[in-house]
This record gives sequence, structure tokens and C-alpha cells, in this order.
Amino acid sequence: MAFAAQAARLAASALVAGVVAAVVAMPVPAAGGVCFDRIFSFGDSLTDTGNFLLSVPDDFPDPARSLPYGQTFFGRPSGRYSDGRNLLDFFAEAFGMPFVPPYLGGGDFLNGANFAVGGATALNNSFFRELGVEPTWTPHSLDEQMQWFKRLLPSIASTESEHSVIMSKSLFLVGEVGGNDYNHLMVRGKSLAELRELVPQVVGAISLAITELINLGAKKFVVPGNFPIGCVPLYLAILPSEEKDYYNEETGCIKWLNEFTEYHNRLLQEELEKLRNLHPDVSVIYADYYGATLNIYRAPLQFGFTVPLNSCCGSDAPHNCSLSVLCGNPGSFVCPDPSKYVSWDGLHFTEATYKVIIQGVLGSYAVPPLSEICRDGEYKVSQLHQCTDSNPTNTVTYDAMSSFI
Ligand SMILES: *[C@@H]1O[C@H](CO)[C@@H](O)[C@H](O)[C@H]1NC(C)=O
Ligand SMILES: *[C@@H]1O[C@H](CO)[C@@H](O)[C@H](O)[C@H]1NC(C)=O
Repeated sequence: MAFAAQAARLAASALVAGVVAAVVAMPVPAAGGVCFDRIFSFGDSLTDTGNFLLSVPDDFPDPARSLPYGQTFFGRPSGRYSDGRNLLDFFAEAFGMPFVPPYLGGGDFLNGANFAVGGATALNNSFFRELGVEPTWTPHSLDEQMQWFKRLLPSIASTESEHSVIMSKSLFLVGEVGGNDYNHLMVRGKSLAELRELVPQVVGAISLAITELINLGAKKFVVPGNFPIGCVPLYLAILPSEEKDYYNEETGCIKWLNEFTEYHNRLLQEELEKLRNLHPDVSVIYADYYGATLNIYRAPLQFGFTVPLNSCCGSDAPHNCSLSVLCGNPGSFVCPDPSKYVSWDGLHFTEATYKVIIQGVLGSYAVPPLSEICRDGEYKVSQLHQCTDSNPTNTVTYDAMSSFI
């Protein structure tokens, strides 16, 4: 059976990848997901599937508007900040769901909606203005994305009972979000002390959004932490140092930045534990993007990456990354094989990396494991096997999606 062969191949690749992947030989139902009916996603460019570009005028200059964005998968720019699929896409695929359409593209949202917007923060823009930082990024922060959701819900659920079925049978992916609250301040030269002060507030905003969703009847959450930002080419390029002990010996990443992310992730996990205690009937899974990604930087070759700390798409600058010549700008270049690079454009990852991260989350990098929200069903990682998989399901969703953008 083709599926069994595929499962065996997968099991082998999962072992090579060093992750424990759940591979289940079960047919996937034609409609809805294996474990839930819909996915609602909130976040930023790591999961945006088109909202940012739909939120700005047609002539707004944004690198993701043109190739090479989308060159590996889709074959055209799709509003994603990668050479292909992103974290949300792989997450949906793993659960046998179609790609989650961007809310701003409209539609019937039968399988869910994506509210994530590139550049979005967890805290309101007014918060940054009060801090003395004029936001030049999208106003569609987590709070606004929540308002979009509350506007959408009555239009897809006409009765009280429909509403409660939709809420309880949907998966809510809240994040990664919050990374940009720090990114926007970091590139404006704010100090570590100023960033640390922000962490409880960022975590508070994430917690508030989850609580609102619980109050609306949500039962299943996946809440990712932030990435090891000390390993991204952008920060390696703009924050270099000769200082002893500045870089981690094993990975070459900037220690203090990764420690800062660990601090954010620790506070977030403590908050999630509080929410679990307050709402014992709700599953709140922490997706350890940090661990899953650091695992790559520790042994990149094991995952097929030969260039871990340079951008695939960038310029002739340290780490092939500079803020003045971004990927897609005149003077930028694209590496011959993005699947050998961890970073796509200096800040976002290649789709090859996104896939390994989600494989990690489906395996051991989730607390509690994802099986918690999938007790009655089973999930699979089959479609995550091949980057350039010309699976007919993908083709269909690809065509359907093009009408949104
Ligand atoms: C954002 O602003 C809205 C109103 O402008 C407010 O109700 C909400 O509490 C704020 N959210 C956060 C996380 O600060
Ligand atoms: C990429 O960066 C490396 C050094 O980090 C440099 O040697 C190389 O020339 C750069 N690539 C291009 C195409 O500019």
C-alpha cells in the first residue's frame, strides 16, 4: 500500500531527523481535520498566509510581494514570508487540513481562518506610542486580530449551539506572537533592560487573548514560544561582538539574545500553567519552537542544512544579511538551494526549516504532547515528507488560494 510505504519512509526520515514523529496508518477523513474541524490562527509573519499584503495598497512595497518569495512552493509570491510554506501550512497539513485562508481574503472559512499579519505585535500599537516609539508596522496587533475573530464568529455560526460546536471543535493556534514586540524595539536600539521590562506585558497580552477565546468556548490551544533569535542572521549581522563568550561555542549564536528568548518562554509557560489550572477542561499545549529550532543549530547537517547562520536570500554582507539590501531588493541574490539554508531572508526561515520545526512539535517539542488534543483521532506527518511534493491536495489548495491574493 502506498501509504504504508510512505509511512515507512517517513519513520526512517523522522529517525534521521532525530525527532519522535507520530506516524499512523489511518485514512484521513475527506472533510474536516483528523482531530478538529477548523484551525483559527493568530500571529505574525511566521504564520501569515496573505493578510499583510491584503491589508496594504497594491503598490505598497513589500519584499514578499515578489519572487523569490514563494519560489520553492506555490511558484509565485503567496503573501508568505518564506520561499514556500510556513509553520501554519505544515501544521494544517499534518492534521489533514487544507491551508488556512487569510481572513482578509474573505470566504466561507469552513476549515478555519488565519488572522496572523506580518509584523504584528502582541501589544497594541498605542502601547508603543506611549513608550515613545512610533509604530511604523501594521496596526493589526493581537487585540485587533481578536476583534476580527469576534466579528467573524457570528457570520459562521447562526445559532447558539452552532457557535459552541465550532468553538469546542476548533484548534486555536495563538502565536508565535510577541517576537515582534521585541524585534521592533531591538532594531531601534533599545537596551536589554528595556526589553526585559516588556516581557510580562507581552505574556499578559497573549494570556488575555487566550482567556477571551476560552470565555467564548474554545477548548483546544497550541501556544508557541519564541525562537532562538540569537541565531538569526539579522541579529548576528547587526549585533556583532569581539567579546569573549559572546557567542555560544556549539552553535555560533548570540548568547544573550537566546537567553532573552528563554526568559520570554519561561514566563509564557508559567502563564500557560496558570491558565491550565484555572480551566481544567481546556487543553493548552506549549509548542517549543525554541527547542525544536535550537536542535537544528546544534546539528544542522543531520537535517540536511549546510549553511545554518547565513541568509539564503540577501546581500554580500556579514551573514549575507543587511537591513539596507533586503531579500528581493536590487543588489540582493538568492542561494542556489534554499533547502540547504536554515534562514530564508535573515529573519524568516526557509520552508525546509519550518517543516523540521513542525515535525519537532509533532514529536517531542510540545508540552503536553499534541496527542492531548487528538485523543479521538490520529494525526500524521506524511505530507511533511517532501518539500516539492506534488501531492494533488496541495495543488487544489494552491489554486483555491490564488483567488485570495
Ligand atoms: C488594546 O486596546 C484595547 C482598546 O483600545 C483594550 O481594550 C485592550 O485591553 C488593549 N490590549 C492590550 C493587550 O493592551
Ligand atoms: C555571502 O556571505 C559570505 C560571507 O559571510 C561571502 O563570502 C559571500 O560572498 C556572500 N555571498 C554573496 C553571493 O555575496
